[in-house]
Amino acid sequence: MNLVFLGPPGAGKGTIAALAKERLGVPHISTGDLFRAAIKQETELGKQVKSILASGELVPDSVTVEMVRQRFENSDTDNGFILDGFPRTITQADALAEMRKIEYVINFQIGRDEIVKRLSGRRMAKSSGKIYHIIYNPPKVEGIDDETGEPLIQREDDKEEAILNRLEVYERQTEPLISYYREKGLLIDLDAKGKPESIIEALLKVLGQ
Ligand code: AP5
Repeated sequence: MNLVFLGPPGAGKGTIAALAKERLGVPHISTGDLFRAAIKQETELGKQVKSILASGELVPDSVTVEMVRQRFENSDTDNGFILDGFPRTITQADALAEMRKIEYVINFQIGRDEIVKRLSGRRMAKSSGKIYHIIYNPPKVEGIDDETGEPLIQREDDKEEAILNRLEVYERQTEPLISYYREKGLLIDLDAKGKPESIIEALLKVLGQ
C-alpha cells in the first residue's frame, strides 16, 4: 500500500507511522528523519540543510525531491511505503505523482493548542529517532532512552519560535495539499486526537485492514 501521511507538525504522523509500518509491513520514509540523519553524519546535504531545519523553513523542492527519488531506488519500497512529511508543496506532490502511484493520503486533523503541547514536550533518542513525550509517552527513566540508555534530546525546531514558524509555513505551503488530494479523491481525514493505540486502529479500519 502506497500511503502519504499529511498534517501539521506535531500531529503524530511519525508516532502513528512507527506503529503502522509494523502492522502493514511497509517502510516508513520520513523526509525529516532523512535530513536529520544527513545533519548528524555531516554530509554535504546535512551541511546544506542544517540551518533550514533549525529555523522551521522548508528545504528547497529540488533537493527534497532528489532525496526521495534516491530513497525510492531501494527495493524495500516496491511493495508499498508510508511517506511522512513528503510531499509538503504542490511542486513536490506533482513530482511524487511522476515517481509513484499514491493510493491514499491520510490527513491528520488536530487543533493548534494540542500541537504546541505535543511539540514542546517531545523528546527524541538521537541515534534511533525514537519519539517520546515528557507527559504523554515518557521514558522509564526521565531524560533517558529506554533502549540505549543515551540522554534524550529536544529537537532544535521544537523551541517555541521555530514551532510558531513551522505552523505558519505549514498553513502557507502545505495546507493547500488538502484540497489538491481531495480533488483527486485520495484524501482520508483522520481524527488525530486521543491515544495512539486508538488512532492506529481507526486508521487500519479506514484502510480496510
Ligand atoms: P519533520 O520531521 O517532517 O517535522 P514535522 O512535519 O514538523 O513533523 P513532526 O516530526 O514535528 O511531527 P509529527 O506529526 O511526526 O509528530 P510526532 O509523531 O513526532 O520535518 C522537519 C523539518 O525538515 C521541516 O521543518 C523542514 O525544514 C524539513 N523537511 C522535512 N520534510 C520536508 C519536505 N518534504 N520539504 C521540505 N522540507 C522538509 O509527535 C509529536 C509529539 O507528540 C511526540 O512527543 C509524541 O510522543 C506526541 N504524540 C504523538 N501522537 C500523540 C497522541 N496521539 N497523543 C499524545 N501525544 C502524542
